[in-house]
Amino acid sequence: MTRPTLPQNGAQWPALHHDLMASRANEIQWDQGAFYYHWPEPGGNVHQAAMAAANMFYTDIWLGRFNQPSINGFAEELEGFVLDLHEAPEGGAVTLTSGGTESILLAMKAARDRARTLGITSVRPTIIAPWSAHAAFNKAADYFDLEIIRVPVGEDLRADVGAMAEAITRDTIALIGSAPSWPYGLIDPIPEIAALAQKNGLWCHVDACVGGFLIPFYRELGHDLTPMNLAVPGVTSISADLHKFGFTPQGISSVSFCDEETAGHAGFSFDAWPCGRYAGQTIQGTKAGQTAAAAWTTMRLLGRDGYLDLARRLSRTTNRLVEGATAAGLRPLAKPEAGILTLTSDDVDIFAVSEALNRMGFPHCAVLNPEALHYVINPVENDVPIDALLEAMAGAVTDAKASRVNRAGKQATYA
Ligand SMILES: Cc1ncc(COP(=O)(O)O)c(C=O)c1O
Repeated sequence: MTRPTLPQNGAQWPALHHDLMASRANEIQWDQGAFYYHWPEPGGNVHQAAMAAANMFYTDIWLGRFNQPSINGFAEELEGFVLDLHEAPEGGAVTLTSGGTESILLAMKAARDRARTLGITSVRPTIIAPWSAHAAFNKAADYFDLEIIRVPVGEDLRADVGAMAEAITRDTIALIGSAPSWPYGLIDPIPEIAALAQKNGLWCHVDACVGGFLIPFYRELGHDLTPMNLAVPGVTSISADLHKFGFTPQGISSVSFCDEETAGHAGFSFDAWPCGRYAGQTIQGTKAGQTAAAAWTTMRLLGRDGYLDLARRLSRTTNRLVEGATAAGLRPLAKPEAGILTLTSDDVDIFAVSEALNRMGFPHCAVLNPEALHYVINPVENDVPIDALLEAMAGAVTDAKASRVNRAGKQATYA
């Protein structure tokens, strides 16, 4: 491909608008509820309102505490919502970030820097994570010069706390648990991991990037789920993405800490340059103000009742998918707990089923061990997308059994 160069003359907007529309004409309509890795319109024209809010603050900057009172106001309210939902103790602190990865990076930097103040001076401070933890923890280890040990999960595909305990050495600074893990959609035994961390004077981070805005509402509806928030003794920090089950537009997540002093370790401050003090809690410098305005609008529009309703719809969709997939000859790897469904099979090559589904236009992520299809569940308002997917699954299983389709060479590339 020849390298594109910036055209000399500016284009006309109608022509560009046409190009923009044409560029996605043959793409999957994610907003219609394809169960892949998207959060569609939650209902009630929330997206329209969020877009209008983003437009209103399109050129605004979100930087520092002083320069943009409107944006800072939205951010402060969002921070309150997050701390409240995660039952942060009095004095708890939160930072709004650009996404789950940044939230995890900040938590791991904070864990490293707190360990330094506690006098842990190992050459390679070590974090211990279950095998199922998100790849962002390895990114954090790479960026902040940490060692990461991934401990095999138990037979139930959750963190094996005994094995994590055995992996602790004098270099260990933090233990990780997920709520839920991306690969298996299961909540790790957070109270036990946190207790182990507390006993050994370690940081405990809960990665609730997926479940942080769903599990609190599921629990309120009576789902029997493991406690996973800042009210659990020993939990130091929790990452939770607004742009996943918070249903806000992309580009916003949160990392909450048990207290201000602990949160301070995530920050950066510097003043030996011509413009004086440069300090902040995020990795990003200047941020887009529209992100906070759109997220604030989404959360205010939905309110607790809106999120509870979404949780009810998600639960119903989950049950329908599990029943239908089972009838089609597939089997959930585990009972889905919080918005993720993984499906495997005992009598058909699941990656042949995957290939058939892809050919039919039903994309999904995949898990490599054990091999499974991976779905993010949407709270669809009617059965149309559910029925379409289930019908495709039944056809894909039939095709795979009849060897009309085989697994493709390459599987499970997350990003
Ligand atoms: C459990 C978990 N943690 C962290 C992340 C990273 O989030 P992001 O892609 O927003 O950086 C993801 C993304 O899917 C996730 O599933």
